Amino acid sequence: MSDSLSRAADALEARGVMLGGPRANFGLAGRKQLMALLHHGMGTDAKVLDIGCGSLRAGHLLVRLLDPGCYFGIEPDREMLRAGIEVLLGEELVAAKRPTFSEHDDFSMTQFGETFDYYLARSIWSHASKPQIEAMLDGFVATSVRGATFLTSYYPATEERPDYDGAEWVGRSHESVEQGTIAHDLRWIARACQARGLRVEEARAAAINFGAQTWLRIRYAR
Ligand SMILES: C[S@@+](CC[C@H](N)C(=O)[O-])C[C@H]1O[C@@H](n2cnc3c(N)ncnc32)[C@H](O)[C@@H]1O
Repeated sequence: MSDSLSRAADALEARGVMLGGPRANFGLAGRKQLMALLHHGMGTDAKVLDIGCGSLRAGHLLVRLLDPGCYFGIEPDREMLRAGIEVLLGEELVAAKRPTFSEHDDFSMTQFGETFDYYLARSIWSHASKPQIEAMLDGFVATSVRGATFLTSYYPATEERPDYDGAEWVGRSHESVEQGTIAHDLRWIARACQARGLRVEEARAAAINFGAQTWLRIRYAR
């Protein structure tokens, strides 16, 4: 991690906010999210919605790269979001790039009155329940342009980490200090996508993956 990013992580931790994952991964996790979007064709004029943007681990890179008015973030943990905006963006960058934020926690995406080209949900489906994932897919259908891409990371269900069937978010959030992650069966995700005219595929390129989560790419079937 660069010295400036390390100082930013210090400043975020001093404010008692989550970094979005282990500190050692803070820089890498941000860069890999940016690389995943670029790998899947994102241009600087794309409208990007970062769902559960946290303390802007990826968001600060996206705000810098994208054209003004193109970055949108949803984060219900107000302290985490405020800290990220102040520490990683700052007033000048906010004024120049005009990012837009929402603190909604129902996974709705219509509050911006926008359509989006790319959706990013890193380390969100590794905590979200099936009803919450379905709400995100519905949000995608309601707000996306036809050629849009939804990139999300998840833990594939295995014998050791079985398919999660609860209705609640698992892990830290604006409502919980409990750690935890969950896994989903790709066949269930495929069915949920198919029911909405979408198709899902795993995006396993080494250049964009890190850790045990795998990227999924969701797009319209036709
Ligand atoms: C593991 S962190 C990942 C943060 C970010 N995507 C990143 O990679 O740095 C999960 C994030 O989801 C947020 N979150 C929890 N419940 C949410 C909800 N209902 N809607 C949107 N985000 C939520 C948490 O506050 C937290 O910032």
